[in-house]
Amino acid sequence: MTKQRVLIPGGAGYIGSHIVLCVLLTRKYTVTVVDNFHNSFPESMTRVSQIARDELPADASQEDKDACTVDVVKGDMRDAKVLDGIFADYKQKGDAIWSVILVAALKAVGESGEIPIDYYEVNVSGLITLLRVMQTHEVTRLVYSSSATVYGIPKTIPIPESTPLAAESVYGRTKQMSELIIKDVCDAYPKTWRAIGLRYFNPAGAHPSGLIGEDPVGKPGNLLPLLAQMAVGKYRDPGLRVFGDDYPTPDGTCVRDYIHIMDLAGGHVNALEALDDDAKFKDTPTPGKYKAYNLGKGKGMSVLQMIDAMRKVSGYEYPYKVEGRRLGDVPDLTADPTLAEKELGFKAKYNLDDMASSLWNWQSKNPKGYTGQ
Ligand SMILES: NC(=O)c1ccc[n+]([C@@H]2O[C@H](COP(=O)([O-])OP(=O)(O)OC[C@H]3O[C@@H](n4cnc5c(N)ncnc54)[C@H](O)[C@@H]3O)[C@@H](O)[C@H]2O)c1
Repeated sequence: MTKQRVLIPGGAGYIGSHIVLCVLLTRKYTVTVVDNFHNSFPESMTRVSQIARDELPADASQEDKDACTVDVVKGDMRDAKVLDGIFADYKQKGDAIWSVILVAALKAVGESGEIPIDYYEVNVSGLITLLRVMQTHEVTRLVYSSSATVYGIPKTIPIPESTPLAAESVYGRTKQMSELIIKDVCDAYPKTWRAIGLRYFNPAGAHPSGLIGEDPVGKPGNLLPLLAQMAVGKYRDPGLRVFGDDYPTPDGTCVRDYIHIMDLAGGHVNALEALDDDAKFKDTPTPGKYKAYNLGKGKGMSVLQMIDAMRKVSGYEYPYKVEGRRLGDVPDLTADPTLAEKELGFKAKYNLDDMASSLWNWQSKNPKGYTGQ
């Protein structure tokens, strides 16, 4: 069977590297990654190829073995020339790109309010540049990394996709705008374009091999990588701050929907397959073939539960202090994942212990991340 080529901008990062792996493991696709390594390292791609090769059955063909190598282009997705060159090169080789999974973005909610121009430039202008080049090369299948932040402060928990989009932060607005732009493109070209937006809740954990995982540049912005780095001593925060313990949640701290990274990454394979099935788009409210799905577990976990889960696996007693509520924090952000389950065949199967133990496996084997520094 001929393999189809998938271009993954941002594929070297935390979520991207696990997506690349899941896509390769289907043995139906080959992968090209374009990344400027703003928040990642090329080493992640070498390791993904190694895992993919290790997981092949003993009688795998040479073609399958070769297909485990990720083609990596160092480049910025805001640069139309770079993107155009990639699409043109593969077309010329008779290996045209079949679809795109757009993962690249700037992603820190707090930072987005401090440097909004950068966030709009990368997340929104970068998307437009990509869409233009895709249109020129008649590549009209897209899976897009969206985020639960598009819901802002939702009225209904668990959150269904029908919730009005009302992002509260600059980052969230870049995701909300991007979804609207993609939907408009799908509406304008209903015969050719098909796109799926995946609204991630809180990805956590790492591939069970411990070869790939989250290795942010600088201080981690998210709770779990921070806890993991504290336990190995890479990052010693004298006062881990828990913002608010008087929320209407079981232990008073904020509740989030943590989903194992391998479950989340697997959802992209479901989405790629759906892009080839027009029946999946038959009930869209507008003529275009654009759909958005939540990728979550549908189970909320509190900040204190996460600290406890990481304490159990690492043995590290986290010093923390409770402070007042942080502006903009929502008590509970738990997904309703039933639409993705019903329509995409997506199902999150890992639990909290799997997330904590795989994260600890990665961090303890790579205390200083990919580069050892
Ligand atoms: N991590 C989360 O909690 C979370 C939650 C919801 C949505 N998301 C979304 O998922 C996606 C991936 O997030 P992640 O956690 O893996 O982040 P990450 O920073 O690890 O990955 C993003 C990747 O994009 C690359 N990149 C950034 N700007 C680029 C540019 N201009 N050109 C080319 N490459 C560029 C980075 O170097 C990095 O490899 C993002 O779109 C993010 O908004 C993440």
